[in-house]
Amino acid sequence: MSEIAKIELGGKVFEFPVITGTENEKAIDISNLRQDTGYITLDTGYKNTGATTSAITFLDGEEGILKYRGYGIEELAEKATFIEVAYLLIYGNLPTQDQLNQFRDSITKHTLVHEDMKQFFEAYPAKAHPMGVLASMVCSLSTFYPESLDPHRSAEAKNLTIHRLIAKLPTLAAWAYKNSTRHPFMYPKNEFDYCKNFLYMMFAMPTEDFNVDPVVVDALNKLLILHADHEQNCSTSTVRIVGSSQANLYATISAGISALWGPLHGGANQEVIEMLEKIHNDGGDVDKWVAKAKDKDDSFRLMGFGHRVYKNFDPRAKIIKKACDDILEKLGVNDPLLAIAKRLEQVALEDEYFKARNLYPNVDFYSGIIYKAIGIPTEMFTVMFALGRLPGWIAQWKEMTENKEPIGRPRQIYTGEVLRTYVPIEKR
Ligand code: CMC
Repeated sequence: MSEIAKIELGGKVFEFPVITGTENEKAIDISNLRQDTGYITLDTGYKNTGATTSAITFLDGEEGILKYRGYGIEELAEKATFIEVAYLLIYGNLPTQDQLNQFRDSITKHTLVHEDMKQFFEAYPAKAHPMGVLASMVCSLSTFYPESLDPHRSAEAKNLTIHRLIAKLPTLAAWAYKNSTRHPFMYPKNEFDYCKNFLYMMFAMPTEDFNVDPVVVDALNKLLILHADHEQNCSTSTVRIVGSSQANLYATISAGISALWGPLHGGANQEVIEMLEKIHNDGGDVDKWVAKAKDKDDSFRLMGFGHRVYKNFDPRAKIIKKACDDILEKLGVNDPLLAIAKRLEQVALEDEYFKARNLYPNVDFYSGIIYKAIGIPTEMFTVMFALGRLPGWIAQWKEMTENKEPIGRPRQIYTGEVLRTYVPIEKR
């Protein structure tokens, strides 16, 4: 017999169906709550609220499990390429060789951005944060492809926009960096794979040969896979809600990029490395900084610690921590920040404050050390997160539109003044 939830209000009992996901997650379906009872639910920060059903990503925060379309993140990070994972997230299955070739060819074909867009870059100050530039540039793409303004075109037209976005984001990201250094833009090199091409556009110079250690390309591939989707987080929910208004995909993804920028979300990776540098420059007294993080009168938080859904460990952090050791060793980098990070982790994990609140290192804690080791400047860390998250955002947008979800429109409980009469200014 199917499970039923009962709510008693004003002496009347109302029944609501319980729905169960394929991983046995349960939800009380309150779609008819207001209509039947006149009440709404209140859940700031959506800590207990399922905004949708989704077949893309499963995560179990208690057990530290993360799967994309049923495949464990550990296996994908070890064996797959980022482009394969992007295909998996967006289209639901791992591609056959033919499907992969077609997908890759299509993306390769669209890596160039319109020459006119170069002028936009040049208009930004050199100090512009690359996330601000990226969000604007992605939204600007909509002005070059006016046919994309209608998100409900044929599947073929939708795919073209999807492929364009995946193809052009690395170009826009690398150019945002080149612009900040006032170095010449490097045009995409289509014989390189996705990750190598990005590194080429970031680091190559017209006057020099370009060589990149395969260890660096592999590290980037792994990092992008680990960031590729994370179910209904802040930026993904933003993408779904903006997309639900039928805004075009470029505008929708641009909104996701802006949401990701915040230091409590993707912006944490930049904050982590800045925090580790601060601790290092301050003499490396980890205990002092842990005490600051625990002090309620001090606004300092241990960046890269804690997560809304992971309450045991973040499986991505576990993979990244190991990758970090391997990569630093292979590249022969001896970063003092790694020692501080490890000490900080150890002190925090043994501390009652962190234990009681289930605060563990998250994906951002070690990723910055890898990015730093492979030469990515700190301000670009969140851009790297956006590059990784793009297929997840697209997959979630595609699912939302295909399921014909209604426009997102939460309700509220009003707590303001009830009724006031206008008072002329001279009498206030
Ligand atoms: N350092 C010190 N105390 C913390 C921290 C931290 N990093 N994170 C949470 N707390 C405390 C918080 O003060 C609160 O204590 P109390 O119950 O005494 O008031 C308790 O733990 C619960 O915190 P919360 O802010 O209510 O938890 P949340 O689920 O709303 O926030 C979070 C989750 C990730 C925003 C938060 O843990 C945080 O700010 N972490 C640092 C920023 C960070 O690393 N963000 C990256 C998240 S992973 C990447 C991504 O996918 O976005």
